[in-house]
Amino acid sequence: MEATNLDQFHPENGDRQRELKAFDETKAGVKGLVDAGITKLPTIFIHPKTPQNSSNNISTANKHNIPIIDLQGIHGNEKKRREVVAAIGEASETWGFFQVVNHGIPGTVLEEIKRGVRGFHEQDTEVKKEWYTRDQSRRVIYNSNFDLYTAPAANWRDSVLCIMAPNPPHPHELPPVCSDILIKYSKEVQKLGGVLFELLSEALGLHPNYLNNIECNKGLNLLGHYYPACPQPDLTLGTTKHSDNDFLTILLQDDDIGGLQVLHQNQWIDVPPTPGALVINIGDLLQLVTNDRFKSSEHRVLASQCGPRISVACFLSTYLFMSSRIYGPIKELLSDENPPKYRETTVEEYIAHFHAKGLDGTSALLDFKL
Ligand code: OGA
Ligand code: NI
Repeated sequence: MEATNLDQFHPENGDRQRELKAFDETKAGVKGLVDAGITKLPTIFIHPKTPQNSSNNISTANKHNIPIIDLQGIHGNEKKRREVVAAIGEASETWGFFQVVNHGIPGTVLEEIKRGVRGFHEQDTEVKKEWYTRDQSRRVIYNSNFDLYTAPAANWRDSVLCIMAPNPPHPHELPPVCSDILIKYSKEVQKLGGVLFELLSEALGLHPNYLNNIECNKGLNLLGHYYPACPQPDLTLGTTKHSDNDFLTILLQDDDIGGLQVLHQNQWIDVPPTPGALVINIGDLLQLVTNDRFKSSEHRVLASQCGPRISVACFLSTYLFMSSRIYGPIKELLSDENPPKYRETTVEEYIAHFHAKGLDGTSALLDFKL
């Protein structure tokens, strides 16, 4: 079915499910709608105008700015390392978000992975369709809106998820247009992830290897997002407000479009595109094991008339890898004054719950509170 046929459905007849299915069956995503030349948003993408969706963001000229932390010198200069640990601890407790520069991943590799993700989404539609699926057991999952059928409104975004670790894929299991760079970039991200978990462990007053030892850095899921230019950006969102369901996210965003915002003290703050920088954010599972010391902040992506916007989000977590490891608040951080706030769980249970819920604007973490 062609994307343009969506218009024949009348949602006022209550047939939202049919409209969703028609869109899903095109296997061409939001990009397919744009390629077909639509100028009006199909109803499934229209978000209700709630206060939480309003764009009461303040400009980055304001004193509120996501911290930018320079990692230069952390492997040799003790004083520098202590300063960085303090800055990362502070940012993780207050913002749950920071950017890093001099992180060790070459600029050419950053450019190459963005080109690779763009190349995936812009390849021949018939070839791309072969990867379209909602089967969670697949290594590569391309679709539009992982929560299409459960979320209250669809997002103006297509995504390709690649499970890169544990058990790295063979290149031939990955889309040929980007297989080599997916593997190369993932190795770099895992290395940086290991360093960040050391710094985060130190910021918690734990042994530097603590978070790596409990396998926070064991899994890596790479999500290549594609946010096409949107004809009516005020009616929808690129990504609904959510927090991430992992331990830590390492995000590479486009250099010029922007649109990523963090909810900080009840206001939406822009995360300004910063060439060469990576955005780091604390995920729900790190908030859980730190018993709320580190914050998994809510964030969203605005839709834009400009585009496409490319972003590459690397989720450090074992995802549906069937690890039986149990995660709860870290015992060393607990005391009589700081009793556990969460019940223990597994990554798999957490993810399954997150998926069943979809991006509905509330945190999955609340359901694990004691
Ligand atoms: C995500 C996310 C932000 C972006 O993938 O969870 O928040 O800029 N992405 O694409
Ligand atoms: Ni996110």
